Amino acid sequence: MIKETSDALTLVLSRTDADRPTGFGYRPGQFLTLEVPHEEQLSVARCYSLSSSPDSDDLPAISIKRTEHGYASNWLCDNAAVGLTLSALPPAGTFVPSRWDRPLVLLAAGSGITPVMSILKTALATHDQHVTLIYANRSPQSVMFADTLEELTRRYPTRLTVTHWFESERGLPTLDGLSDAIPADPGSDAYLCGPAAFMDLVRDALVTAGIDRDAIHREVFVSIKTNPFLGATTHVSNDAEPNKGTPVTAEVAGTSFSFLCPPETVLLDAMLSQGIDAPFGCREGVCGACAFTLTAGEVEMRANETLGDHELEQGVRLACQSVPISDTVDIVIE
Ligand SMILES: Cc1cc2nc3c(=O)[nH]c(=O)nc-3n(C[C@H](O)[C@H](O)[C@H](O)COP(=O)(O)OP(=O)(O)OC[C@H]3O[C@@H](n4cnc5c(N)ncnc54)[C@H](O)[C@@H]3O)c2cc1C
Ligand code: FES
Repeated sequence: MIKETSDALTLVLSRTDADRPTGFGYRPGQFLTLEVPHEEQLSVARCYSLSSSPDSDDLPAISIKRTEHGYASNWLCDNAAVGLTLSALPPAGTFVPSRWDRPLVLLAAGSGITPVMSILKTALATHDQHVTLIYANRSPQSVMFADTLEELTRRYPTRLTVTHWFESERGLPTLDGLSDAIPADPGSDAYLCGPAAFMDLVRDALVTAGIDRDAIHREVFVSIKTNPFLGATTHVSNDAEPNKGTPVTAEVAGTSFSFLCPPETVLLDAMLSQGIDAPFGCREGVCGACAFTLTAGEVEMRANETLGDHELEQGVRLACQSVPISDTVDIVIE
């Protein structure tokens, strides 16, 4: 357990499963969904991004910042201790660079630094492009990972540029101020995480700097409302007839399944009702845990708060929101 600031800490994790006692596989930018104990509701589920890098840290870690009047973040900050055991879903999410051969512009505000930190550390440890981090905080005292960033800036003086923006000194970030800090390289890939207003402003600054909309990726931090740890209920259409629906072929972690997706039913519900162990988290189109690649056919998504244009162009869709609209559908879940 590492105290980052007066209201944020990092929890270093290890598995307690007897067969795999240490770390686990994940990609930079992914998150875990944790089950946090709750007296009345038994538990609540919350997502926390991995702030460690799978390429330069021995053990995975998550970092949590207290949300004022929030339940889980305060429970974790108050109860975290060496030996605390919590249940978690496997790492998930699509806020993961798919290429590393472009300069990276990373923009984070407050706790939005966590997935960005993971991407930053991997980029420096295993790739050779320049990394710019623009990091907004209320004051110097609220900067998470301040020592690590200082150390990395010393170790990679020509490859890493860190610009801090302190609200206490400059007020809220402005378009002009951000534009000044964004390097003039339209070929860059950008990753942003922070409050919605911050990300909207940052996107405008990046587009003004000539960066392609397709190259701009964002991660949204919200509290998910569903609790995948309390059992996977499914919402399969009441009108569903056993032999009616769209034929679907799903390759899930290397195993192939064929089934009918009933009309007006999302693919996730159809898979769960077939007993297929498909990954999911929020079931609200927010977290990206249920992402799959569409390899044939068409689906319509009811909501999408997480996938960007780039992922959509590559055929990535959300199983919790996708209803088939073609005669057949083929999907792959890694
Ligand atoms: C993909 C993803 C990754 C994330 N990664 C991180 C991370 O790395 N680090 C991190 O700190 N957070 C992260 N988050 C956010 C995290 O999951 C939680 O949303 C955050 O910790 C707040 O949860 P909470 O239970 O403390 O607050 P909640 O109890 O969910 O409350 C959130 C806010 O809503 C208000 N509220 C609650 N109930 C009500 C009500 N009934 N009426 C009105 N207002 C209400 C509270 O006052 C509070 O301001 C991530 C979220 C996602 C989706
Ligand atoms: S389960 Fe979270 S987006 Fe589908």
